[in-house]
Amino acid sequence: MHLLLFTDKVNEHFSPTSIIMYSDQTLFTPLTLPCRKVLPNRIVKAAMEENMSGADLLPDHNLFSLYRYWAHGGLGAIITGNVMVDKTAMTGPGGVVLDETSPIEPFKNWAKIIRSGGALAIMQINHPGRQVFKAVNEHAIAPSAVNLKLGRYTKQFAQAHAATCEQIYTIIRQFVTTALRAREAGFDGVEIHAAHGYLLSQFLSPLVNQRTDQWGGSLANRARLLINIVSEVRAKCGNDFSVWVKLNAADFQRGGMSQDEAREVVAHLNKLGVDVVEISGGSYEMPAMQGRVEDSQTLQSEAYFAQFAAEIAKVAGMPVMTTGGISRLPVARQVTESGCDLVGMASALATTPDLVKKWQENPEYRGVMLTSSLSDKTLASLITMSMVRRQLRRLGNDLSPLRQPSQLWSLILDAVHRAKMTRRYRALINRNS
Ligand SMILES: Cc1cc2nc3c(=O)[nH]c(=O)nc-3n(C[C@H](O)[C@H](O)[C@H](O)COP(=O)(O)O)c2cc1C
Repeated sequence: MHLLLFTDKVNEHFSPTSIIMYSDQTLFTPLTLPCRKVLPNRIVKAAMEENMSGADLLPDHNLFSLYRYWAHGGLGAIITGNVMVDKTAMTGPGGVVLDETSPIEPFKNWAKIIRSGGALAIMQINHPGRQVFKAVNEHAIAPSAVNLKLGRYTKQFAQAHAATCEQIYTIIRQFVTTALRAREAGFDGVEIHAAHGYLLSQFLSPLVNQRTDQWGGSLANRARLLINIVSEVRAKCGNDFSVWVKLNAADFQRGGMSQDEAREVVAHLNKLGVDVVEISGGSYEMPAMQGRVEDSQTLQSEAYFAQFAAEIAKVAGMPVMTTGGISRLPVARQVTESGCDLVGMASALATTPDLVKKWQENPEYRGVMLTSSLSDKTLASLITMSMVRRQLRRLGNDLSPLRQPSQLWSLILDAVHRAKMTRRYRALINRNS
């Protein structure tokens, strides 16, 4: 056992006199990123789409209240829920958009709150591609005209259209604009979302990307959009701005992006000045990010992607983070001991936003993982998301999270909230068109 003395420099949330016993020092030591920004410790709040934007798709008081809890929760970095680069392409109806027309003040406020406890503020930026609910938008662009296949839920999703080259260049510009504006607002960096079956992950996937031009076919072509965006963001935002990428360890679908390909993509990213690669997995069709894969495959019951991430770390020139299934301190420790530099947590921080502080006071403290054991993977995933989002809304309203929210009631409340957000979004888009 080592005796660890926390100083203000290591973690501002602890008084210099706090003396805590740990069996390892890595998790609670600072990490300097290639861009020279420093995380006070190795634990990161991963992105969770809140669906809580205010009017005009901007962050407002509810999001500020929510992030205040995380800001003072002892984390090393805080990644926002995905922020859209295009207001006509939304992962969800209550999403936040940052484009060239967005007022910057609400984002400045958001960044200030996120950074107020010493954590780095990283804005996740995203384009949904074909993973769009039809109620929000009937049409979506994707690498190819390949619709999402979700059994009886398929009809709830937009019709996919193959993006033209011009649209692809527009998307690159939109990512760069959002990154530049995040910097202007005071964020320490952005995370480019290339996982979970959204647009950049669709381009990487041979199942969805059936193009025969320079954007499809070989892995080099399928990765071209991601590589272009990362290079442009790095070039335009400067070397002191942090650029993170979230990538699937694999798609976990037959014919999807493989583990070997994910490693190859990371080898490409090595040359582009990326600060962190976050490893997750899956998509709406295969929600591996929640630990659910095909019956023929298995993931670890906790830290689902830790082994994959440790493999990727062997070829990665930048720090590697893994997210998924982490809610206990011994597991977080194992993750850093097995070769990963950063530990990402999402849903456990929805119920216990100060989980890291709780771990430091009591290493046995168990975070809550909300989950559904239904055999219908899509419904189970929907229920899990509903329960987590309910906790986020409660925190946003300064109500304490529930340790055991009812699954059915969470699903109903989420549906009601989403319907309200959808009506508001459609009215806004109709007004602006
Ligand atoms: C309500 C909810 C919203 C999410 N939104 C995002 C998102 O915006 N971007 C993202 O990369 N991942 C998102 N995720 C996935 C998480 O970042 C994470 O990869 C996944 O939940 C597994 O981590 P966990 O087991 O710690 O929850 C979301 C997860 C939940 C539960």
